[in-house]
Amino acid sequence: MSVDPYKKLDIRRTQLFDFHGVSMTHYFTDNWENVQNFQARPDDILIATYPKAGTTWVSYILDLLYFGQTSPERQTSIPIIDRVPFLEKTILPVGSGVDLANNLPTSPRLIKTHLPVQFVPKSFWEQSCRVVYVARNAKDNVVSYFHFDRMTQIQPEPGDWSSYLHRFMEGKMVFGSWYDHVNGWWKKKQTYSKIHYMFFEDMVEDTGREIDKLCCFLGLSPSAEEKKQITGRVQFDNMKKNDMTNQSTNPILDFKISPFMRKGKVGDWKNHFTVAQNEEFDEDYKKKMKDLSLQFRTVI
Ligand code: A3P
Repeated sequence: MSVDPYKKLDIRRTQLFDFHGVSMTHYFTDNWENVQNFQARPDDILIATYPKAGTTWVSYILDLLYFGQTSPERQTSIPIIDRVPFLEKTILPVGSGVDLANNLPTSPRLIKTHLPVQFVPKSFWEQSCRVVYVARNAKDNVVSYFHFDRMTQIQPEPGDWSSYLHRFMEGKMVFGSWYDHVNGWWKKKQTYSKIHYMFFEDMVEDTGREIDKLCCFLGLSPSAEEKKQITGRVQFDNMKKNDMTNQSTNPILDFKISPFMRKGKVGDWKNHFTVAQNEEFDEDYKKKMKDLSLQFRTVI
């Protein structure tokens, strides 16, 4: 009989601390040496995001593109979070993303990270791996993160919305500043050509078009029928119903507080920001987002 390792786990909320200039919690730094020494392979694909930018969505799209036809049983038996390991996450004694990634039987391996670009293990660059980066506008991103932190029992206590929003503006979130993250990766793209920088808003606007662009980047040419099938399966309502993608098997999430697949919309921030908060946020945003070549849409 298998023993559920989560039974031994002391699930509790953590504290942020400064880690080389980035706010982190120990779940993502405990295995640091092994993360830094991770040996990427040339065909590995790294899915990089700031938390809540659409990581699960893109992970599922890539998994279907690569393995949807060849191993359909994978789609009904392995949760997406196990198919696409979260490299720096280490929850002892449950396991580490590094071990999960090292044990992946697939080729290519799809690997997820929320690390800011300067923390990415150097072997990904040395091996010239492809990277898919997804970014989401700051306002919807912070709203989604707030609800996620409410439900996720290992994240720091979120507190009330107003203080949470201020902490976001100060970069005091797990994985640090949204502003530094999206800018850091955007800058990297100027010198490293194998980054496909995507936007959540574009995916909501036209998922099929974004899948086409992804295929182009990855050198894949699925049939029209396959593409249509994938586009349907990755729609919000279908992923919300699917126990392999809605994270219902994840024991650190409290679904009584919020669903993981919450709204999946562009513009939900309008239901959270007061007029005064919005003005303050916009003012601060202009100061932090100096590179005007990186533009986000907060409505579509
Ligand atoms: P909301 O909280 O705004 O609903 P991540 O996977 O990076 O944690 O991101 C989660 C966010 O992506 C959640 O946002 C979730 O609902 C949204 N999401 C996931 N799959 C989606 C889909 N197929 N369509 C639209 N949004 C999706």
